[in-house]
Amino acid sequence: MKSVITGTGIGIPRNVVKNDALTELMDTTDEWIRTRSGVEQRCYADPGQGSAELGAIAAANALGVAERTTSDIEAIIFATMTPNYFFPGNGPVLQAKMGFGEIPTYDIRQQCSGFLYGLDLADSLLKSGKYRRILLVGAEVHTPFMPWQNGWDATIGLSDRRVTAEEYAANTAIRDRTVLFGDGAGAAVVEAVEDGERGYLGAKLFTDGSNIEALYVPGVGFRHRPYVTARQIEESLSIPKMEGRSVFKEAVLRMPMAVRAVCAAASVDVDDIDVLLIHQANLRIVEAVARQLGFAPEKVPHNIERYGNTTAGTLPILFHECVGDGRIRPGMLVCFTALGSGLHWGASLYRA
Ligand code: ACO
Repeated sequence: MKSVITGTGIGIPRNVVKNDALTELMDTTDEWIRTRSGVEQRCYADPGQGSAELGAIAAANALGVAERTTSDIEAIIFATMTPNYFFPGNGPVLQAKMGFGEIPTYDIRQQCSGFLYGLDLADSLLKSGKYRRILLVGAEVHTPFMPWQNGWDATIGLSDRRVTAEEYAANTAIRDRTVLFGDGAGAAVVEAVEDGERGYLGAKLFTDGSNIEALYVPGVGFRHRPYVTARQIEESLSIPKMEGRSVFKEAVLRMPMAVRAVCAAASVDVDDIDVLLIHQANLRIVEAVARQLGFAPEKVPHNIERYGNTTAGTLPILFHECVGDGRIRPGMLVCFTALGSGLHWGASLYRA
């Protein structure tokens, strides 16, 4: 038995925000953002549109491609670090919203590695014989992290107010992070298939929590009493803190190691990989990982220029686009790799 992705879909919000729009809010330039990260634009969700809503759009599309209905799905895995609510997770929100049966839902939170972990979990559950068809969703709405009160609504045409000097300074203080992220979702129907070559070949997944502070949200957590205060928000402790250079180095070091490890475990040569799908956090990371593995750029697709970093959404969105435009064709060996907050990272192999 193999776990096969029988359909994928994406949910991308309609508000396209180009780099130039951000230069109105903070001291940044299109040139800095492009050259340092590769991002040219990102899409922001509408007010009231959460990661569950974007996930539902992606899920509906994936079900359609797989020619399945909600009643065919036996379990849902939802990967997000930005759920609609602190609790419950997005699993029950999606289940009710889309009218699934009273099936089990699993909420997982491995940030940028969410889809990687989710696919491995789906494979394990299918292999165990518990379920035959699982819906896996990776979705993220990062815009609530933005200091929305500081003029961000202008980016989606909801205001034409100019930011004050104070707001501009506050936005500039967090510019290294806010320019990178966008909202978006991807989903996959994963099914147990008895025959054929297609399917999941395995993963090597890792965690190192020894330096959580390199990439985390310091405030708004249950170590604090109360868990959210006005002071935390004023001091930007509710937005992610990131040691960009150190995370960059970890990504460039650990993703190639994970790719080599999963290939060794599956007894395939790294050169046998036809398409390498790397988490879209920074185009320079993507290029550096590809270089280290000796991959030509054609084998390493990217879409960060259009979406920014959509965390758990990036790998399923990229996979969906590559299947759609023929960069991934039947029989090809696909490798997924990601690294993000935790740190969680890893790589997996999939025969398309
Ligand atoms: N516009 C203009 N200038 C900026 C901006 C900006 N948006 N952001 C930072 N700068 C300035 C800095 O202030 C600094 O100025 P200084 O030299 O006068 O002090 C200068 O640019 C260089 O800053 P660096 O932080 O050294 O820039 P770097 O080239 O490292 O790029 C970046 C920063 C893009 C954040 C990069 O380090 C990166 O991508 N890191 C990894 C991110 C990542 O992989 N995250 C994991 C996934 S996210 C998740 O898991 C949720």
